[in-house]
Amino acid sequence: MIPTLEWTDAGVRFLDQTKLPLEETYVLAEDYRAVAEVIRTMIVRGAPAIGVSAAMGVALGLQRSQAADIAQLDEDLQIICNTLAATRPTAVNLFWGIERIRQLVRALSQEPCATIPQIQQAAVAEARRMYDEDIAACRAMGAHGAALMPHAGGVLTHCNAGALATCGYGTALGVIRAAVERGHKLHVYADETRPFLQGARLTAWELLHDNIPTTVLCDNMAASQMRAGKIQAVIVGADRIAANGDVANKIGTYGVAVLAKEHGIPFYVAAPWSTIDMETATGELIPIEERAAKEVTHFNGKQITPSNAEISNPAFDVTPARYVTAIITERGILVPPYEHALRLGTEQAVHVLHV
Ligand code: MRU
Repeated sequence: MIPTLEWTDAGVRFLDQTKLPLEETYVLAEDYRAVAEVIRTMIVRGAPAIGVSAAMGVALGLQRSQAADIAQLDEDLQIICNTLAATRPTAVNLFWGIERIRQLVRALSQEPCATIPQIQQAAVAEARRMYDEDIAACRAMGAHGAALMPHAGGVLTHCNAGALATCGYGTALGVIRAAVERGHKLHVYADETRPFLQGARLTAWELLHDNIPTTVLCDNMAASQMRAGKIQAVIVGADRIAANGDVANKIGTYGVAVLAKEHGIPFYVAAPWSTIDMETATGELIPIEERAAKEVTHFNGKQITPSNAEISNPAFDVTPARYVTAIITERGILVPPYEHALRLGTEQAVHVLHV
């Protein structure tokens, strides 16, 4: 399996995704500040991977804390959580990961005989459990979603929602993997995904690693490939899904969804429940990360725009729910109306809603 991130005795080890596909190198984050930096600089990226990395960051921070008593540990916890929460704003998994450890620690701290070592160990164990749960969720999404993939044909994906964006197997690419494992003859079209090139660098790398046939498309080629009949389905991941089913995902996803509708191609979103944000009513309320202009002005270290060009670099866009054919989760496949399906899925945690 592709080792995206891993808890070790020395800290959290990350496959450096900024160096792929040319170099397979690793970064060891030995304290929570280093984990925050790894998330901010996108050495690790992808909503589920960010969520588990943040949880491991909190656990690491607590493990390294020199607090003399529980009150001081709580102060440290606050600083650690704030640092990690300030890294990337759009993927709700980041906040989900932080909150899960924070709430566990707060609950344990209320117990009269709680000790600092016990709390530290429990935080580490919880973060490691979240890692295992993420892989299990990806496998479940694959099992639910495989039947939605064509038996043979082209599937377009945008960005990287694969093993590299999760603790393993992937969400959108997990569904593709599961379909291929079940005998579907798929050819993946990977949008390059300007400006960070997650599709060209990461999706192509990880699918070829598994011998899944892949063609890289520049982002502006999707329309003509759809028109030519090469694409039978689109499947993408998500960074946050609002309570009405609007989906925030990598910039460019919205355009792909509109094109899919025009060409009568189903548009699927695969995401774990940790990506669903029932506190945010609609996509308009989702915070969209604006990244450094240099990601647009430079290519491979070389300036490609005039020095005085105005730059906009929103990292995500929102696809309105009406463009989404189905949302594939570990709890089952959701179909419109999403307000209802998401509420039902939240209340009935373990039921498969519709397959
Ligand atoms: O900026 P990134 O690379 O973190 O953005 C990643 C995406 O947009 C993915 O599609 C999304 O996080 C889903 S990953 C399973």
